[in-house]
Amino acid sequence: MASFPLSRLRRNRRHDFIRRIVSENHVRVEDLVYPIFVVEGENRELEITSLPGQKRLSIDRLLVVAKKCLELGIPAIALFPMIESPKTNKMAAEAYNPNGLIPRAIKALKHEFPSLGVFTDIALDAYTVDGHDGISDDTGYVINDLTNEILVKQALCHANAGADFVCPSDMMDGRILKIREALDSNGFIDTGIMAYSAKYASGFYGPFRDATGAASNLGKFGKQTYQMNPANSNEALHEVYQDLEEGADIVMVKPGLPYLDVLYRVKHEFKKPTAAYHVSGEYALLKMGSQNGLLDYERTIMETMICFKRAGADLIWTYAAIEVAEIIAMQDVK
Ligand code: PBG
Repeated sequence: MASFPLSRLRRNRRHDFIRRIVSENHVRVEDLVYPIFVVEGENRELEITSLPGQKRLSIDRLLVVAKKCLELGIPAIALFPMIESPKTNKMAAEAYNPNGLIPRAIKALKHEFPSLGVFTDIALDAYTVDGHDGISDDTGYVINDLTNEILVKQALCHANAGADFVCPSDMMDGRILKIREALDSNGFIDTGIMAYSAKYASGFYGPFRDATGAASNLGKFGKQTYQMNPANSNEALHEVYQDLEEGADIVMVKPGLPYLDVLYRVKHEFKKPTAAYHVSGEYALLKMGSQNGLLDYERTIMETMICFKRAGADLIWTYAAIEVAEIIAMQDVK
């Protein structure tokens, strides 16, 4: 007769060695992408109050951080600009200026550290006056096809400067196909596309918009007329399907922890390289929570990372990338 209890699952939790052996998922430094904010100037490091520990860096300072990423084994960084007035305008012309901030940052990075992956944001929010990801009409509605034309120019500009992956985060319909066609016909057949495919109209982007300065004028629609409704997850599969059909190499679900169910469905449905974006608000909550003594930062950030892996993420974009890489390096030494 079987004894009580039928099995003792706690045996595999009794000691550290066995917990490590039976661990189903692991966070590796190779999983991390570090998003960095860049700004014009020299020797500039501007604090971002809503994003503790993160700064807007001038290109010379960006190179110092890039070197650190390389040393820690972080495979890639993602660039986000803060474009200061008067370079923002209605048609976002600065977004495809070949001598603009991002193209110069890409060139400097590729010159100094050719093996470090460079991902760039394809969207117009940093370059428009109203902070929308595209060009708005007189009523404040973002015009899809006109925006795509500018996104294509921006993607070509970044590819030309040497970006490894262009990452459309704008949520216009059809932009992946337009960008893929333009890259191919201009000889950039090896430039990848990482599509923000299931990107939700989220309140968790607050600190990011603060960091890029693109927060203030979004108007009555916000970004809900192009970013997804948080209530939907079947729709996310359609978004991902279309982006893959149109030529995306990697797809993303964004934000991260509140959308793990979506991440899980996307990974299991398509089995393609899938990214999770642990967005600014999620990061800031952990940082400020730990600074206020509510929780242990190291523990909760690592728990967050393993949750992304468990849900199926292949890569994790996080402002904590350097800290996580350092924690992993310490664990390896132990
Ligand atoms: C905009 C963009 C946003 C983020 C990445 N790209 C903000 C937005 O959509 O308003 C958010 C990232 C974060 O919150 O960390 N193209």
